[in-house]
Amino acid sequence: MILIKLGGSVITDKKEYRKFNRDIVARLCSEIKDSGEDVIVVHGAGSFGHVIAKKFDLNSGYHDEEQIAAVAQVCYDVRELNSMIVAELNDARIPSISLPPGSCFMMDDRTLSIGDAEVIKAMRDKGIMPVMFGDVVQDRKLGFAICSGDQIMERLCELYDPEKVIFVSDIDGLYDDDPKKSPDAKLYTDVDMDILESVRSESSVDDVTGGVYEKMMSMLRMSSGDRECVLLNGTVPGRLRSALCGEDIICTIARGGIQ
Ligand code: IPE
Repeated sequence: MILIKLGGSVITDKKEYRKFNRDIVARLCSEIKDSGEDVIVVHGAGSFGHVIAKKFDLNSGYHDEEQIAAVAQVCYDVRELNSMIVAELNDARIPSISLPPGSCFMMDDRTLSIGDAEVIKAMRDKGIMPVMFGDVVQDRKLGFAICSGDQIMERLCELYDPEKVIFVSDIDGLYDDDPKKSPDAKLYTDVDMDILESVRSESSVDDVTGGVYEKMMSMLRMSSGDRECVLLNGTVPGRLRSALCGEDIICTIARGGIQ
């Protein structure tokens, strides 16, 4: 099985509140279907989540009554995004059902617990893909917290031991500088812990879940043993399909886990 995260930067326009990139998502779903691989798709929130989550400081947990309406709004918005993605998956003949983490699971001081995953396994046994996503989740310590799609990927990795993990974003991989601002930025084809420490960089867009550094750390944690964890550009047609089929592509591969 291959685990795929469709990042918020590719499925939405992260700078415009609730802007869904339908054509890109439809193409990515067809590429998944064409590859013939068994996959689980997780997705991020993009501008359906980060804009309001940042404005109301939702990642700090509950500290103010005003946040409650914002929690409800973000949960509504990310469920709408999820419905549109599930619709595209079903249109591509990948039978899929929405599984909102904030409606099914708890967090404990920002750590998601999925438990025995009976519902996920029951769906997969029937050939149905459960589709989880970045969400606001009830938290035993903080009241509520943001659960990123990356954290869901890590839990699914523990549960399913996938052969490969793919993160789809809007850049070719990890650069030593921001490629949107510096045309000479160099792409890292392979990343390990040492390289990551030397390129610690901040994200340029509003992102409540940590930006590029946190993403690469999460990818490294998932790259233990022989498992490759790939970051690729989903705005380029065919790249996701090629990665799923094991072809060489422009990307960054995290290897070696965290020592
Ligand atoms: C964020 O999820 C969830 C919310 C802000 C509610 P992600 O961190 O996985 O989303 P992207 O991929 O960065 O947009």
